[in-house]
Formats: sequence, C-alpha cells, structure tokens
Amino acid sequence: RTRSIVRGIGGYLPEKVLTNADLAKLVDTSDEWIVQRTGIRQRHIAAEGEFTSDLAVSAARKALAHAGLDAGDIDLVIVATTTPDYTFPATAALVQNKLGITRGMAFDLQAVCSGFVYAVATADSYLKNGLANRALVIGAETFSRLLDWTDRATCVLFGDGAGAAILERVDLADDAPERGVLASSLRSDGQHWQKLYVDGGPSSTLGVGHVRMEGREVFRHAVGMITDVVHSTLEQSGHQVEDLDWFVPHQANKRIIDGVGHKLGLSADKVVATVDQHANTSAASVPLALSTAVEDGRIKPGQLVMLEAMGGGFTWGASLIRW
Ligand code: ACO
Repeated sequence: RTRSIVRGIGGYLPEKVLTNADLAKLVDTSDEWIVQRTGIRQRHIAAEGEFTSDLAVSAARKALAHAGLDAGDIDLVIVATTTPDYTFPATAALVQNKLGITRGMAFDLQAVCSGFVYAVATADSYLKNGLANRALVIGAETFSRLLDWTDRATCVLFGDGAGAAILERVDLADDAPERGVLASSLRSDGQHWQKLYVDGGPSSTLGVGHVRMEGREVFRHAVGMITDVVHSTLEQSGHQVEDLDWFVPHQANKRIIDGVGHKLGLSADKVVATVDQHANTSAASVPLALSTAVEDGRIKPGQLVMLEAMGGGFTWGASLIRW
C-alpha cells in the first residue's frame, strides 16, 4: 500500500496584531459585535514589504525542522493562495527559490479558503502516482491586501498567515497499520461565485480588487455543504463520525464551526478552533489550526484527523488523515 504520510507541520503569523478594538477605530463596529457574530478577537497583518511568499517560507522552514528534513529533500511545492506576490510566476516558484530548491515541480493552487484541503488531495495523488516523493504543501495568504477597509461587513473577518505540511510517500507493509491520507473529497459549484468574490483581476479590471461577500448567503450554504463533504469522506474510508479524534475545520467563523460540529454530532472537545486568534486566513487557516494542535500536543500519532474547508466558488472539501 502506497500512502502519503504527514512528516512535518508548521505555522507562521506576522508580528503585527490588529485587535477588534483597533478595528473599532477604523469602522463603525465593536469588539462585542465581532465576538458575538464571529468569535474573532484579533487577526495578524503582514508588514509592508512582507509578501505571501515570505509568510509561506517561514511556515515551510518550521515544517521542515519539525520533519527533520532539508529543503533539498522536497520535489513538489504547492502553494494554495488567493493572494500571490505577483500575477506570475507562481508563488510556489518564489518559495522554491527562497528555500534554494532547484528540482522537482512547483505550482500554485487557487481554491480560495478550500485551497489547503485541495492541495493536500492534489499532493496525495501526485505522491501515490509516483510523480514526486516529498511534497511541501502550503496555505499562505496576505488577505489584508484584498480588504476594503471601509466595509465593516468584511474587513473584520480576515487576517494574514501561513501554514505548511510535508507529505511523504511511503510503502506500508501488508501488516502495518493504516497511516497517512485515507480519503479526500473535493467539490465545486461555480453558480455561487458572486456570493463571495474579489471584484478585480488581470483579465477583468486590470486591478487587484476587493473582497465582496453576501455574508448571510455564505453562512446559509456553509453548514450543509461542509457536513455533506465530511460524511462522504468518512464513507469512502469506512469510518464514522465517532471514530474521529480531531476535527480541524476551516477557521472562518465560530458560528459556522459550531453549526457543523452540532450537525455532525461531534463533541465540542474534539474540535480545534483558532479563529479567535487569527480570524479567517483563507487557505492558511486549516494548516494554522493543525499546526497549533500538533504543537500543543493535542494531535498525536495514530489519531484520526478530519480537515475541512469551504470558500469562494463555492469550493469545499475534506480530507481524512491517520496521523
Ligand atoms: N460591526 C457592526 N455591525 C455590523 C458589522 C460590523 N463589523 N458588519 C455588519 N454589521 C451590521 C449590518 O450592517 C447589519 O445592520 P442592519 O441590520 O442595520 O442592516 C447587521 O449588522 C446585521 O448584518 P448581517 O450581515 O445580517 O449580520 P449576520 O448576523 O449575518 O453576521 C456575518 C454577518 C458575520 C458576516 C455572517 O453573515 C457570517 O459569518 N457569514 C459567513 C461569512 C464568512 O464567514 N465568510 C468568510 C469567507 S467564506 C468561508 O470562509 C466559509
């Protein structure tokens, strides 16, 4: 059995913290409103001149150190991001260069908030099919650069950050216990694109644009779509909700996380929530939550971990990993 196992994980948050109280000085909002509606207390914001590739490299170095590997051991780099440094080359090529990697392949993956889950599934197939041996899978965003800082309905929700995982191809002996990525399910339905999008881009407006969102519509679809994709991922691998040790959801909003947990029938102490600390960091949110729970010792070898995310498109997906 060929499997992709997680060898290492790491997260990085920029130094500058923007609290809800700081935001209340910019727009007509309050700490109370933001905490009650979203569970968010603060977010990190990249410094001027600090790019997505810089955040990605910081997270990648931590993941490499955690794995006990050198950058030269990597032959596949996937950066899930909505906020690339440049229109091209791919941020993954810039990350590769900053890490001194000159072999293998590197590309970006754009599935907005679902990007990391999409990238895990993609890396898993590349590894299982023998196209690469070790993948550096990164979710990295400077989402603050896409925000309309006069729109209180969106600017309070997002933050910057990066998380990285190293996936490695292993051949498990017939009698060895199951390990690594067990199943993934990815979904997309483009008819929803206008509910959450950025109103700019090189082809449409030549500019960068800002996040536009129908928050209630996103909320209305999120819980059902996520629950559905989690169930199909469990079914694919012959597992049930009760088997899960940890549930690591996309960190968009505490109410969505609670709604999904409730609908799945998961006990709250199995849910990893970091949204209060870093808000919605889009593709970085799942690996940031994952690295937090690995670092603080919650997630242990042998445990069953479900990742899920949903975002613009809509795209959504889940991945089940035996740690
Ligand atoms: N501070 C104070 N008041 C605000 C703020 C704010 N930051 N933002 C909006 N309001 C006001 C609105 O103007 C509105 O006022 P009105 O009644 O006078 O018109 C009132 O609060 C209620 O607005 P709603 O949008 O109906 O508030 P809702 O309870 O739906 O909460 C929220 C808004 C938090 C955006 C919610 O809809 C939500 O979480 N949606 C999911 C969106 C999301 O998480 N997107 C992230 C990307 S997608 C993903 O990652 C899954």
